[in-house]
Amino acid sequence: MEFGVVVFVLTLPFVAESIHFEVESGHIKCMGEDIKIDSMTVGHYSIVNPNQGHPLPPHHKINVSVYTPKGDRLHYAEVVESGQFAFGAEEDGNHLACISAIDHQPEDKIFVEFDWRSGVATKQWSNVAKKGSVDAMELELKKLADTIASIQEEMFALRLRNLEMMMINRNTNSRMGYLSLVSLFLCLSVAALQLWHLKSFFQKKKII
Ligand SMILES: *[C@@H]1O[C@H](CO)[C@@H](O)[C@H](O)[C@H]1NC(C)=O
Repeated sequence: MEFGVVVFVLTLPFVAESIHFEVESGHIKCMGEDIKIDSMTVGHYSIVNPNQGHPLPPHHKINVSVYTPKGDRLHYAEVVESGQFAFGAEEDGNHLACISAIDHQPEDKIFVEFDWRSGVATKQWSNVAKKGSVDAMELELKKLADTIASIQEEMFALRLRNLEMMMINRNTNSRMGYLSLVSLFLCLSVAALQLWHLKSFFQKKKII
């Protein structure tokens, strides 16, 4: 008996679409799925009837095994037409599902539909589901809501202060401009007075 082994790897982190493939009698096909630790995974497989309305031929049966990355078997079904499995991953990595078609002469092709979904982190959900932790979360959320409200109030007050400061700033600026003009004028007139005073002083002393 000869087994042809074909491994094709699907690396879909969350939802894997159902896939279709064919296995020949006495052959095996494996499929890998990268599963994160603690995530829930659910698989469903069934043989597709090639002749709708007719019963499946008796040799259309499969053996199914699912393995952890380390090689421990998580699921096993023998000589079945369909089945399903579900487990929470205890290790990170590529989990393998192998489907073999039972031996038959002459060789026949068996069409299999395989749906493997994973990605729901079980640990987080089981924590959320506990009544006590829901209450604790509610309390935390209320505290957060209070904090947000007080931050909002503070921001509003700050905006008001900012507006006041801007008004004061504008007034100060215009006053400063006015004052500097006045002081310039004063300086110029004092200089003119000094000049005039010195000139008359020297004229009186007959120096000029
Ligand atoms: C499937 O399981 C049956 C029952 O154990 C076994 O006889 C048969 O060899 C298996 N077929 C394949 C292809 O592994």
